[in-house]
Amino acid sequence: MAPGTPELQPPKFPSVKSLSESSALTSIPSSYTFTTDPNQHIASDPQDSIPVIDFSLLTSGNPDQRSKAIQDLHRACEEWGFFMVINHGVAESLMKGMIEACRGFFDLTEEEKGEFEGKPVLAPIRCGTSSNTSLDKILFWRDFLKVFVHPQFHSLNKPPGFSEVLLDYSQRIKMVVEELLKGISKSLGLEEWYIDKAMNMSSGLQVLVANLYPPCPQPEHAMGLPPHSDYGLLTVLTQNEVGGLQVQHQGKWFNVNLIPNSLLVNIGDHLEVLSNGKYKSVLHRVVVNRKATRLSVLITNGPSLDTVVAPAPELIDEIHPPAYFGMKFQETFTLSQTNKHHGKSILDQVRI
Ligand code: OGA
Ligand code: NI
Repeated sequence: MAPGTPELQPPKFPSVKSLSESSALTSIPSSYTFTTDPNQHIASDPQDSIPVIDFSLLTSGNPDQRSKAIQDLHRACEEWGFFMVINHGVAESLMKGMIEACRGFFDLTEEEKGEFEGKPVLAPIRCGTSSNTSLDKILFWRDFLKVFVHPQFHSLNKPPGFSEVLLDYSQRIKMVVEELLKGISKSLGLEEWYIDKAMNMSSGLQVLVANLYPPCPQPEHAMGLPPHSDYGLLTVLTQNEVGGLQVQHQGKWFNVNLIPNSLLVNIGDHLEVLSNGKYKSVLHRVVVNRKATRLSVLITNGPSLDTVVAPAPELIDEIHPPAYFGMKFQETFTLSQTNKHHGKSILDQVRI
């Protein structure tokens, strides 16, 4: 090789997709092996499932319907921290188009994706495998793409059409989140724009997170994502037809069976802090399977990076003293992306 010619090095960690597609793979590399079976303790109580929120009632002009929807939202946030939103007005074709666009990204060659690999956590576009390969002791059976779409819209120029669908989808989701936050503010006894204003949502950080979980020859020893809670206020998820997401509820793990075309929403750590612990962020995880590829598309919705998130003074009194310290969102965001991806790690740092 001529001096000065950059040496082409294979990436240190291959994507799970490329691993999974190598025909020789009959067992997983030891770097992916969890010693405990991640599938244990699944609850299958058909009476108990994730609550459903009818968005059309929440935005209804009829005050009775609206207050009923706000009560439903209150119960869902308090009891589960997760809910499915129906009649949200986001076109089915747009949801499917967003999933297909992300599939198109993962289908790019490893070389093409290489441009976005190994970037720092505040880089607006980055992709990779596991969560943070320099910290994860055991690797996760998952490849990801993360793109900052608000307050500044960033996007990729490949695959063709990706940008257009991402802009449309992320803007629609922002509108849904705005209404949900109005409802959640009211459900906490606050004025409806309270969270929007206190969290500076007009310059809030919105990130697309696309996750790919390829088939795994030993799903009983691998983990798509280990138990964790999400940063931010609300995360909104859509997925292909392959399940795998599980939510912790009353100490048990529940499989998420999404109503077709619904959006799955969950409470993030920063809403737990703002609500002074009235609404909790909830642990969830992803298990993998032998046969099919799961693809999920999430939009995370947080305050602006310079917002200090602390318990709302209106929710503090003698019986409910502040349960968390205030912390600038940027610091906790960076922590969430560099910490070990386990448990409620951000909240452990700010709990009083
Ligand atoms: C996440 C997450 C769930 C999924 O990326 O934080 O929880 O189904 N993803 O991919
Ligand atoms: Ni999550």
